Amino acid sequence: MREHVLLIGGGGREHAIARALADSEADLYACAGNRNPGIAELASGFETLETTDPDAVVDYARSVDATIAIVGPEAPLQAGVADALENAGVYAFGPNQDEARIETDKAFQRRFMRENDISGCPDFETFDDGEAACDYVDRYDGNLVIKPAGLTGGKGVKVIGDQVTAEEGKEYIRESDYDRLVLEERLIGEEFTVQAFVANGDVRTAPAVQDHKRAYEGDEGPNTGGMGSYSDATRELPFMTEADYEAAVDIIEETVEALEGYKGILYGQFMLTAEGPKVVEFNARFGDPEAMNTLPVLETDFLDVLTSARNREPLPDLEFAEQATVCKYAVPAGYPTDPEAGAKVQIDEESVTRVAQATDDSSGDDARENAGDALLYYASVEEWNSSDNQNSPNPDDVDEREDGIYTTTSRSFAVVGLADTIAEAEEIAEEALADAGEEGLHVRHDIGKADLVQRRIDHMDELRGK
Ligand code: AMP
Ligand code: GLY
Repeated sequence: MREHVLLIGGGGREHAIARALADSEADLYACAGNRNPGIAELASGFETLETTDPDAVVDYARSVDATIAIVGPEAPLQAGVADALENAGVYAFGPNQDEARIETDKAFQRRFMRENDISGCPDFETFDDGEAACDYVDRYDGNLVIKPAGLTGGKGVKVIGDQVTAEEGKEYIRESDYDRLVLEERLIGEEFTVQAFVANGDVRTAPAVQDHKRAYEGDEGPNTGGMGSYSDATRELPFMTEADYEAAVDIIEETVEALEGYKGILYGQFMLTAEGPKVVEFNARFGDPEAMNTLPVLETDFLDVLTSARNREPLPDLEFAEQATVCKYAVPAGYPTDPEAGAKVQIDEESVTRVAQATDDSSGDDARENAGDALLYYASVEEWNSSDNQNSPNPDDVDEREDGIYTTTSRSFAVVGLADTIAEAEEIAEEALADAGEEGLHVRHDIGKADLVQRRIDHMDELRGK
């Protein structure tokens, strides 16, 4: 029987998951709050619904006879969607609500690391009283990072000594009124992500990726969900050694062992310090954008991973193409502080594909093996088609709306370049952006460029006293 895979979520990450399953022996069904045109095109069915409503997701899963489900974003995991699907007899590749606390509750996450003696845990304290937290800021010898314990879409963290002074940090604690906080040692180094496919006690890790959280070029401006990311043709990144990558994998393996029974993706965000990798956070799902670096180079059938997980079989060994990737997001003007939702965008998907073909053609026969590829992923855009009876993020405007694709308050679309080197992949991503049409949107053009990558290498050399 053909598997019926239900995909939950409508961002760039989920478009990457959909594409990873597109050639598998499965029918794909998807549900999300926004109608993502890229996913809708690949799916046999697409329903707009509230993905944090477990009953709505289960109803849809039943209506399409889902045999397996994969949950993209963290919010449905926190809402117990994986638990509800399992109660309805649908295997969910994603942790249940309790296990997802490794992401959704940063105080739990840090205490879990401490109690289980997992390597790479920074010095930390947890607080449920703002004044006690402010006293700790005054007493602490060094810079602290202020983290709300709950989910903030990566935007609630304040780093003293980088984004804010100690006084501003205390003001933030007093004004923001979070009921639980983690205060932890500021780690100095370079960040990287390792995502692991986990089930039945098996851990299979993907090549490291570096995301760029800050909104503006040169790592300036507010934190975002991630503006873009790159990976190399090897498992490590240019500023890391193989041993650094292995140390990160060890930390993930220790964590999976302590979690017992975890299934889904475990995403480790690491800071490579002079003493090796330390854990910035764990996520209970693929990264967005990191999924768009990882899944296009995954050569193993992702469906095999899902069915092995469900059938309680060992996970297949994963093969990854030895290619570098560079992903760049186009986001609404004003993102993330004051994003302009409801703006019509022209995305020319066909031109992006033509970039890939042109690159292939122009490189001649000998170079053809090395030719790059360009991919486009739709993210939090809304496809508006007046004949569809669908929800709009901007109900006031919909009467006058022309059919087309509109921005929401979140990231709009991403392009990915794939090639032998990061530099070539970056050039391909830039061409693809120009062809896709980024007018009116904001992009960090520096991501993956040689001088930014070199700065990361120099920074690590300096920290390691080389
Ligand atoms: P998080 O939401 O935990 O990923 O934090 C968002 C960003 O804040 C991270 O990507 C880091 O850039 C920064 N950050 C978080 N924790 C630390 C830390 N302990 N030391 C330095 N920077 C941090
Ligand atoms: N790229 C960061 C995240 O997915 O949380």
